[in-house]
Amino acid sequence: MPILNWTGKSLQNPQPATLQLDSIIHPHGLGWPEAIPGNQLILGDNLAIMAALLPEYESRINLIYADPPFFTNRHFPARVGRGEDSRKPREWQLATGYADQWGTADAYIDFLYQRLALMVRLLAEGGTLYLHLDWHADAYARLLLDELLGADNFLNEIIWAYHGPSPIRSAFNRKHDTILVYTKGPNYTFNADAVRIPYNDSTLKTFAASPKAGFGKVPDLNRGKVPEDWWYFPVVARLHSERTGYPTQKPEMLLERIILASSNPGDLVADFFCGSGTTPLVAARHGRRFLAVDATFRALHTARERLVRAGSPAFCVYTSAGQTISTRTDPDFSFEIHDGEIRLVTNQPIAYWEIDPNWNQTIFRSALQAVLPLRSGKINHSLNLGELSIGRHISARAVDESGQQFQVSLK
Ligand SMILES: C[S@@+](CC[C@H](N)C(=O)[O-])C[C@H]1O[C@@H](n2cnc3c(N)ncnc32)[C@H](O)[C@@H]1O
Repeated sequence: MPILNWTGKSLQNPQPATLQLDSIIHPHGLGWPEAIPGNQLILGDNLAIMAALLPEYESRINLIYADPPFFTNRHFPARVGRGEDSRKPREWQLATGYADQWGTADAYIDFLYQRLALMVRLLAEGGTLYLHLDWHADAYARLLLDELLGADNFLNEIIWAYHGPSPIRSAFNRKHDTILVYTKGPNYTFNADAVRIPYNDSTLKTFAASPKAGFGKVPDLNRGKVPEDWWYFPVVARLHSERTGYPTQKPEMLLERIILASSNPGDLVADFFCGSGTTPLVAARHGRRFLAVDATFRALHTARERLVRAGSPAFCVYTSAGQTISTRTDPDFSFEIHDGEIRLVTNQPIAYWEIDPNWNQTIFRSALQAVLPLRSGKINHSLNLGELSIGRHISARAVDESGQQFQVSLK
């Protein structure tokens, strides 16, 4: 079997991160204040986090979708505020997103190898791993996965095709990504009926003209077909309704097909490079549990806001040592309580705020939230306390549009 080699190749035994439970989010109070939920959003380097998850999750994750940096040697800025709306370019603001910069190909390949090896350990028997890359590194990754999971467990090479502007004039426009799909063993989940799509018009016309067109086989034209291994979905470009402003956000339809095909309701779906949170969002929508990790606070905030906006089941937010969510206690906001309503008072542009009605000084139990709507409209500055019983300390956290998080407590 061909094996990929590079300088210093050897599997590490990474130091596990120390995970700290930062908050429990009950979107719109749902499930409040029940036990600690299994859905997790974790901030930190996924290598140390996967190592920390091993004792509890080794061979327990049913589906892993991995969308790492692609080895482009670029920086990907985020757009904040309403910066995602190209109709208002004066309101755009660029902010740090994430880096995809590597000294050498060896450094990138080793980064990927160490992480894929841990993903393979976390994957359940019969689980499926989707690795999303493009022409920069897909050939290397194919060899890494052949080595780690076995070439016999290769399932598909999916081509995700899209279109869009390109400055390239000296080659064909590079408009597809490659998703390598491997399973852990032969008894894997593949729900063909959950992802069927309609036959295209020309097929329908051909069979209408001659039932013999299928060389003796007549497909069930009403049931639709299992998709080919090339998919077309539009990218999440500037005017796309899902656009959060987080760079290289993937379309929900892409994750929908992956999650429906390769997992069942109640299964555990993980994304260790979760970015804006597309995977946990779609997993929750379809009744799967989720584990989602990213190294940047902007990704964590974006994913949290998306999950809250969608009314996801409750989830925990964890941080790892050295990777705390920068929370300031000297904010430019305050809040007032009147007639069963809590009101945020600030001149700052706020993207998200939340309330813990009974702050225990350690874990923030978020029972009420307000989120900036994605496309238009303002964030709600008052929240109705409803039936919530207020404890000795009530606390509020807010994230401004630059991604800075603040917290204040009211005795
Ligand atoms: C291609 S983006 C993922 C986009 C995501 N699929 C979405 O739909 O928004 C890659 C992500 O990997 C994260 N990342 C890179 N290195 C990481 C590491 N060592 N640990 C955790 N996350 C990492 C980056 O911060 C970035 O958000």
